[in-house]
Amino acid sequence: MQEKLSVAEARRPEAVGREIILQGWVRTRRDSKAGFSFLELNDGSCFGNIQVIADAKLQNYESEIKKLSAGCSVTVAGLVRPSPGKGQATEVQAARVTVHGTADVQTYPLQKKRHSFEFLRTIAHLRPRTNTFGAIARVRNCVCNSIHQFFQEDGFLYVHTPVITASDCEGAGEMFRVTTLDLAKLPTKGPQIDFAQDFFDRPTFLTVSGQLEAEIFACGLGKAYTFGPTFRAENSNTPRHLAEFWMVEPEMAFCDLEGNMDLAERLLKRVFRDVLEKCPEDMEFFNLRIDKTVIETLQSVVESRFVRLPYTEAVEILKASGQRFEFPVEWGADLQTEHERYLAEQRFDSPVIVFDYPRTIKPFYMRLGDDGRTVRAMDVLVPKVGEIIGGSQREERLDVLQQRMKQQDLEPEDYWWYLDLRRFGTVPHSGFGLGLERVVQFITGMSNIRDVIPFPRTPGNAEF
Ligand code: 4AD
Ligand code: MG
Repeated sequence: MQEKLSVAEARRPEAVGREIILQGWVRTRRDSKAGFSFLELNDGSCFGNIQVIADAKLQNYESEIKKLSAGCSVTVAGLVRPSPGKGQATEVQAARVTVHGTADVQTYPLQKKRHSFEFLRTIAHLRPRTNTFGAIARVRNCVCNSIHQFFQEDGFLYVHTPVITASDCEGAGEMFRVTTLDLAKLPTKGPQIDFAQDFFDRPTFLTVSGQLEAEIFACGLGKAYTFGPTFRAENSNTPRHLAEFWMVEPEMAFCDLEGNMDLAERLLKRVFRDVLEKCPEDMEFFNLRIDKTVIETLQSVVESRFVRLPYTEAVEILKASGQRFEFPVEWGADLQTEHERYLAEQRFDSPVIVFDYPRTIKPFYMRLGDDGRTVRAMDVLVPKVGEIIGGSQREERLDVLQQRMKQQDLEPEDYWWYLDLRRFGTVPHSGFGLGLERVVQFITGMSNIRDVIPFPRTPGNAEF
C-alpha cells in the first residue's frame, strides 16, 4: 500500500523501505548522463527538499519529466531508500511521476538565483515558495501555537474582541474609519457630517487594540487574552511599523505591574524555547543567511533574567552615554527606537523592561503612580527591534480615571461601560500587548517587518 507522506516524514531514516506518495513543487531538476534525472522536491512541510530519482524508463520521462523546472507541481509514487549523498538521510526512487502543472522557465519569477526581499514583496503570492518565506511561515505558526499553549496552560480564557469599535483605546487618533456613507454625498447636520445616518449611528473605526474589552473579561472572569488583527493609520514608513498587525493582549485581575512584567518575561522565554526546539532547521537557516547571532541570542535570552529599569534611570543612562542620538533625550520625552536599541544592545545586551513612564506621554488608562507624575507603564525592549511589548497596570480608581480622561480631552460618557468596571467591584488589574510581527522579527533576524507577515499593509500598499 502506498501511503502519502510529507517531505518532512520521508526525509527521516525511519521512512526507508516504504512505498510512498509525495506531492509538492519542483525546486530544481538535474539530468545525469547515466540516463536519469534528480528532482529536488519541496512541499512546505520542512525547510529541506527531498531528492527524487526519476529513471529514463518511466513512460513520461522524455515527454514530461525532462521538461520539469522550478515551480512545476507533481505527484511522485516511489520507494524511500537510504541516500548515498551528503546532508540527507533518504531519497526516493520514483516509480511514477504525475505532472499537475508546469511553470514556464521564461516567465516563472522564482528561478534559482537569489532574489531581493524588495522584489519578493512584489510577488507576495509566490514568495511562500522560497526558502526564506517558507521558514518564516513555519516559525510564525510555531510562535502562534506556543502563545496559545502558554495561555491555555496558565488558565487564561481566549476572548474575541471586536474589530469594529467606536473608541480609540490608545487615544492617538490613528484610526481607520469604517463607514457605509456615500463619500460623494455625505449627509450633513449643520456644518458637520451626520453620522447618525451611518451604519452604526455613530462614527466607527477599525480597532487599534482589544485591551478595553479584554479588561471587561478579566474584571469578571479573572484572566483573559485576545489574539487578533489591529489597525493603525499612522503614516510611518519604517521597518517596524505596519498598518495592520497582529497583537496578543493578556489581561489579569488582581495583578500589579510586577506580576505583569513576570508574565511578559515568562511568555517570551516560552515562545523562544519552543521555536528553538521545534524549528531547528529553519532557525539554522536564519542563523546562516540572515543574522549570524539569532540562535545564540535566543539561547542566552531564555536563560537570562530581563533587566528591569525605571524610565527615570533609563533617561540618566542615555544622557550619560556620550552617544549622539538623532532625537534628544529629556525626562518627559518618549524613548525613540534608537534609545531603546542603545539600552538593549550596547548598555545591557539583554531584553530590558523599562517602567514608570511620565504620565503625559502615555494613554489615559494607565495607573497613576504615587509620585503623581509617572504611570505604571512598562515596555519590553529587545536588541535590534526595540519595543516588542507595551503594557501597564490599569487605573482602577474611578475618580482618578475620570480626571485622567478629562486631562486627555476624552469624554467620560463615551466610556461609560469602561468606567462601570471601576464602579462595580473594581480590582487592581494589569495587561500588555505583544506585537506578533515584532517578535517574529526578533526571532528570525529579518530586518523589515514587511517580510514577517504574509501580506503587509503599509501606506500605499494593499496588493494581494
Ligand atoms: O504599545 P502599544 O501601542 O500598546 C497597546 O496597544 C496596549 N493597548 C496594549 C495593552 O496593554 N493591551 O502596542 C503594543 C505592541 C507594541 O509593543 C508593538 O510590539 C506592537 O504592539 N505594535 C506594532 N507592531 C507593528 N506595527 C505597528 N504599527 C505597531 N504598533 C504597535
Ligand atoms: Mg507602545
